[in-house]
Amino acid sequence: MGSVTLLGRGRRKLLAGEAWIFRGDLGKSDAGPGELVPVLDQDGDVLGWALHSTSSKLALRMVTRSPEQPNREFWARRVERCLEARAGAGYLDALQPMAACRLIGGDADGLPGLVVDRYGDRLVLQCGTEAADKMRDFLLDLLLAGLAERGIEIAGILDRSDAKVREHENLDSRIEWLRGDASMEKLMVDEDGLTFAVDLGTGHKTGHYLDQRDNRRRAAVLVQDLGKCGFCKPEDARVLDVFSYDGLFGMLAAQAGAKRVLCLDQSASAGERVLQNAQANGVADQVSFEKVNAMHDLGRRVDAGEEWDIVILDPPAFARSKRELPGAKRGYGELFRRGFQLMPKGGFLVAASCSYNMKPEAFLDVLTKAARDAKVIAHLLDIHGASVDHPRRLDIPETDYLKCAFVRVEPKS
Ligand SMILES: C[S@@+](CC[C@H](N)C(=O)[O-])C[C@H]1O[C@@H](n2cnc3c(N)ncnc32)[C@H](O)[C@@H]1O
Repeated sequence: MGSVTLLGRGRRKLLAGEAWIFRGDLGKSDAGPGELVPVLDQDGDVLGWALHSTSSKLALRMVTRSPEQPNREFWARRVERCLEARAGAGYLDALQPMAACRLIGGDADGLPGLVVDRYGDRLVLQCGTEAADKMRDFLLDLLLAGLAERGIEIAGILDRSDAKVREHENLDSRIEWLRGDASMEKLMVDEDGLTFAVDLGTGHKTGHYLDQRDNRRRAAVLVQDLGKCGFCKPEDARVLDVFSYDGLFGMLAAQAGAKRVLCLDQSASAGERVLQNAQANGVADQVSFEKVNAMHDLGRRVDAGEEWDIVILDPPAFARSKRELPGAKRGYGELFRRGFQLMPKGGFLVAASCSYNMKPEAFLDVLTKAARDAKVIAHLLDIHGASVDHPRRLDIPETDYLKCAFVRVEPKS
């Protein structure tokens, strides 16, 4: 077994509580690819154990600060902790066999590099590091045992390790069925009283944006809030769901009673699923879809004088690196301004950013400037992150990437 010795800055960072150590901060190392190694100080004392990467700049991901070597029991407890958290949040009810949620959230769950999502009786996993590749089958066995104990049997397992993050680790992209086959790619799953289509093989992420689940539920409440604050009857509400993907923000709003929901996305296959989902949930009369480039389309709608009582803006990450941040701020700013311009006074805006590099303060700055540019007074009602099955660790800020603001434009006095 190899080991890594931390000296100077690397050691100081580790002792200050950092969970990730970059290659430039390593002292001596003879650790192999994806190896679980002891992290030593200059006297040879064990400071903890970490998973090592040979190809990434992010060389060490700490697993424990105990000198004791993690064994099978240690990992079984980690996996069990993930399941307990999801069960506690009500996501693992055996009576809901087609439920979906994130079961393992990688570093935030103490299982670096490994993400596992559940869609009914299927799992989709993604390995983002050498270590996750190595430990995949071992951790998967522990997970399957924990699910079986809870009465959840898994018929299909897809390894969709095709995320871009693998490029930073010099790892090849792969898509392979570990159990079942490609005939299991398409299925209908349940979320908050909705049933919706997921394509595990070609859908975004592992097939669906599980991280916005709680925010979708919160946004649907706004339809009733329009009524409560005397703005309009819920059944008269008009909702614009921009960057809709499968249309779940819009679908829940329609279920909450909105008269008209328009979903916009550039993906034709997402559009097909929007219509399929609307049918499946009995809201086909209220929901429609248009395939557009939203960045151009919203300007056209503003020029045409369109008005929407609730506007939802959930764009893809505009800032994938710090370098992209200035352009991203301009993009978000323009988008949010258009959103405000499309609402009558008293309307609600739901504005999200999933760019980790766009920090909450900068996000609120952009939102504030957009409201000023649109010449509206806006009240921030709340700001939330990802759903509870996507844990956030304070010592790994990268795990806290999603911001979703709920804003109301001041009504006419
Ligand atoms: C973060 S996802 C939206 C998730 C969705 N709101 C949900 O709750 O599941 C971003 C979406 O934006 C779409 N998209 C990206 N660029 C676009 C553009 N210029 N115009 C329209 N849609 C775009 C993608 O196809 C993707 O579905």
